[in-house]
Amino acid sequence: MTRIEIDVIPYFDDNFSYLIHQSGSSGATALVDCGDAGPVLSFLENNNINLNYILATHSHYDHAGDISSLVNQFPNATVIKPKGEKRIDVAGKEVSDGETIPFGDLIIEVLAVPAHTNYCLSYKIEDCIFVGDALFSAGCGRMFEGQPADLERAMDKLSSLPGKTKVYFGHEYTKANLKFALSIEPDNQKTKDYMTEVEEKVKSGMFSTPSTIALEKEINPFFRIDQDSVIKSIDPSKSLSRTERMAALRHRKDNF
Ligand SMILES: [Fe+2]
Repeated sequence: MTRIEIDVIPYFDDNFSYLIHQSGSSGATALVDCGDAGPVLSFLENNNINLNYILATHSHYDHAGDISSLVNQFPNATVIKPKGEKRIDVAGKEVSDGETIPFGDLIIEVLAVPAHTNYCLSYKIEDCIFVGDALFSAGCGRMFEGQPADLERAMDKLSSLPGKTKVYFGHEYTKANLKFALSIEPDNQKTKDYMTEVEEKVKSGMFSTPSTIALEKEINPFFRIDQDSVIKSIDPSKSLSRTERMAALRHRKDNF
């Protein structure tokens, strides 16, 4: 039985906020990321929902830029943000890798996955993980601040989660990512099939979020760095280390 429910609240061109609420007596609620409070406040008001937590995955304006507007409306909500990240200019509780946050009678686990920025966090609750821009379906966030070894560590950490884990990512980039994935693995039938599925979903106004860790292991080249098909595309002469291969794959995506 699912003990939490998740609502997707889209904003800007392709961003997602996620509202997590616990079913049952506690009724605990948490919102993941907020670049535009407008749609979130409408949703909360329409559904008569209070806010207990605001979870910030990273500092970028389209994820954390309008948290202050939420705090104005819900002054009792606790903002949770990455420890040491000075660019999220809202008072709150700073957390780091391995910490837990009580959520009703459940807990939210904090996983540090720096690479996109030096302070990226993912939040895991039950079999759901909220990754911001650390991971996308069929891709990952641009390596703005971290080093290739950071990206490698982040991908290894996320891909080692149980396959059934649902992945709630920060942007609807899936179609473009699948196009890139097919340029790396043109014979990956699962990727081809998933492209068809996502195209149909997006055409009918649906979102591709969430994915699962199991699906990403089949389609996401950043999770498939050790597959022969990916090595063949990225490093046919097999001269690169694994970390260098990850860097080369990210570089290829940046220029795709
Ligand atoms: Fe970002």
